[in-house]
Parts: sequence; structure tokens; C-alpha cells
Amino acid sequence: MGKKMMTISLYCQVVYLVMCYLLCFSGFGHSLEPAMYLFGSSVLDMGTNNYLTGGAKGNYYPYGIDYPGGEATGRFSNGKNAADFLVEMVGVPSPKPSLSISNKSDMVEEFLKGVNFASGGSGVLNTTNPAYCMTLSQQIGLFNEMVEKTIDKIGPMETYEQMKRSYIVVNIGNNDISIAAGTGVDPEEYASLLITTLKPHLQNIYNIGGRRFVIISSGAQGCLPRARTATGGCSEETNKMAKAYNTKLASLMKTLQSEANFGPLYYSYFDLIAGHELLNAKRESLGFTEGVVACCGTGAFNGSAYRCGPGTVPCDNRANHIYWDNVHYTERFTGLLMKLAFYGSSPYVEPINVNELTALTVLSPYPTDQVKSTK
Ligand SMILES: *[C@@H]1O[C@H](CO)[C@@H](O)[C@H](O)[C@H]1NC(C)=O
Ligand SMILES: *[C@@H]1O[C@H](CO)[C@@H](O)[C@H](O)[C@H]1NC(C)=O
Ligand SMILES: *[C@@H]1O[C@H](CO)[C@@H](O)[C@H](O)[C@H]1NC(C)=O
Repeated sequence: MGKKMMTISLYCQVVYLVMCYLLCFSGFGHSLEPAMYLFGSSVLDMGTNNYLTGGAKGNYYPYGIDYPGGEATGRFSNGKNAADFLVEMVGVPSPKPSLSISNKSDMVEEFLKGVNFASGGSGVLNTTNPAYCMTLSQQIGLFNEMVEKTIDKIGPMETYEQMKRSYIVVNIGNNDISIAAGTGVDPEEYASLLITTLKPHLQNIYNIGGRRFVIISSGAQGCLPRARTATGGCSEETNKMAKAYNTKLASLMKTLQSEANFGPLYYSYFDLIAGHELLNAKRESLGFTEGVVACCGTGAFNGSAYRCGPGTVPCDNRANHIYWDNVHYTERFTGLLMKLAFYGSSPYVEPINVNELTALTVLSPYPTDQVKSTK
């Protein structure tokens, strides 16, 4: 080989390497890994509400007292919340709160790593706490906006592929039920209203490419420390409403699966009430000495509506408590519940658990007749 040829050959190799570097490391080629997109209430909120004025917040001591660094991040827990446990077990990047990336120039890159839209206080209905949270409609609205910008940047097919390989996590309805408690609404009718309102939102996500759903039901809202302050015991009427909702939610997922026209829809439905009942029945052997009084708060059961206010001294033995504040579980109890969602079986998690959901290969080619489906 002559000297000139060698120079050309070297030149080609350099060009090749530079191009490979650009394609593999600086474009979007490398960031398309499964991610997690979360919607719903404080059970999953990782700091969305920190970006809202007023409202329900968990960004002060003693929230986060057991979080790494003792940091109050906005999670409604003494430590990690349900979203953290799911992220860890599924093995995806920890998604950022939607409002922390929504106006950033690198929004699309961030979007592809997963986003947490969940907002403490939110419900299925627009009328549930609209003053101090992002309602589900607003969460989905912002999601759709981000999807549109992502489609503009990387194309509809790649955007679809990203949603397809990712996880959609939803926990919503609990706050609608708490708000309706004691107002005399018919549990079945109210549950039906919630489900018919929720359905198009889930269809919207499916149409964009969401194929793997983790659905967490309402909890036993009637047994929360806040609910107990009324009579001392659980509010059976509220629990009845929560159970009616959960039953219809499980059916809704079955229906959505059977109606899936553009490729299979897979889901794990986790029944939080059944999970709570199972663990509560075993609470002594699990080391929970306190199953009804919250660790942090004031009043009977530490359940007063004021919640666990700034600077309130929490209990020392947080690992022994089921409830952290008037409406949220402790980190430890949450961890056990999420383990049940991940590894458990019917009647706690159906038709497959989250571990099985992660093992699925989603075969669902890009539906060419369904471009830009958010509009
Ligand atoms: C983004 O910026 C626009 C205009 O500056 C503003 O109206 C909007 O509230 C911002 N959105 C968020 C989520 O911060
Ligand atoms: C709920 O609010 C959204 C906007 O956030 C709106 O588009 C929708 O029509 C509302 N739904 C109802 C039932 O009022
Ligand atoms: C509420 O929590 C505190 C710890 O911060 C505890 O000392 C108190 O006994 C609890 N209240 C009730 C009613 O148990």
C-alpha cells in the first residue's frame, strides 16, 4: 500500500469513527431504552407538586427523613414511594417529574428516559382537588404535548417504538373516592362514572404505543387514619366504594385488552386493598406493631386533616408502622406491597405480575394507519 492510499484509508477510518460516535453517542440512537411513564396520585408523585403553587406537598421535614440523604423530595413518604420500588424492580431509569422537564430545551431527550406525571391529590375527575394538583386530564394533556414534540424530533415510528418498549404505571381513583365519601353518592354509580372517565385516557396512551401497563387500584380509603377519625373504625361505606371501583377497574383492563386493535395490550392489575388485607393479617409476624395510627401527624390516629405538617416530630419506629401520615403508607409497608405486585399472584395481582410483564416481548409492529394519534 502506498503512502497516499494509507492516508486515505486512515482518513476513512477517522470519518467512520466520527460518524459512529455521532450516531451512537450524541443522537437519540443510544437513549432508546425501556422507560417508565407514571400517571396519577400522591402514591406515585416524585415531586410534581413541588412545581405547583400552593397545594399538597411533601417537600419539607419530616417527609423524606429515611430517603437517601434525608432529603424531602416531594414524595409523600418517609422514604421511597411506590414509584421508586417499581423503578428499581423493573430496572428502568428513575423518571423525572413532568414539570421539571416540560419547558427545557432537552425535553425530548428527558422524555425518552421516562417521565413521572403523577400529582398528589389528583383524581380521575376534573373536579377532584383541581386547585392544588395536576388533574389526570392535565397530566395526559402534558404527556400528549411531549409526545407531539418527540414525534417532531425523532419521528412517529421511533416515538411509537419507545412507548411500546416502555412501562405505563397508573394509580388513580383513590382521591375521587375519599372526596365522595359521606356525600351520599351511590358507590356503584360513582365507580361507573370514574371508570368511563378513565377509559379514554388509557386508550389515548395505548393509541400512542403504550403496551405494558401496571395498574394500581384504589386503596382501602375507609381505613386511612384520616378516615378513622370520624368513628374510630374503618368507614365501610368508603371501602365499599373503593371496592366497587376496583372491581370495575379490573374489568376495564380486561375490556381494553380485548379491544386492542393495533397490537396486544399487556397489564398487571394490582389490587391494593387485597394486598393491604394480606399483609395486615400477617402484620405481627412482619414486624408491624402499629397498623392504624400514623407515624406523623396530630389528633386521633395522627389522622387529622392537617396531615404531617412542617416540623412535626415523627415516630422513631417508622419501620413498625403501616401508615406514615394520615393517608400514606410508610416506606417499609409500601416496599412489601410492591414486592407483592412484582412477584405475587391472583387475587393480589392479575392476570400476570409485574415481573412477568417485564419478561414479555411486545410484538406490535408500527400501525402505519395510525400516525399522530394524539390529535
Ligand atoms: C412553560 O412556559 C410557558 C411560557 O413561558 C408557561 O406559560 C408555562 O406555564 C410553562 N409550563 C410549565 C409546565 O412550567
Ligand atoms: C376535563 O378537563 C379537560 C382539560 O383539562 C377538558 O378537556 C375536559 O373536557 C374536561 N372534562 C370534563 C368532563 O369536563
Ligand atoms: C402521633 O405520633 C407521635 C409521634 O410523632 C406519637 O408520639 C403520638 O403518640 C401519636 N399519636 C397517637 C394518637 O398515637
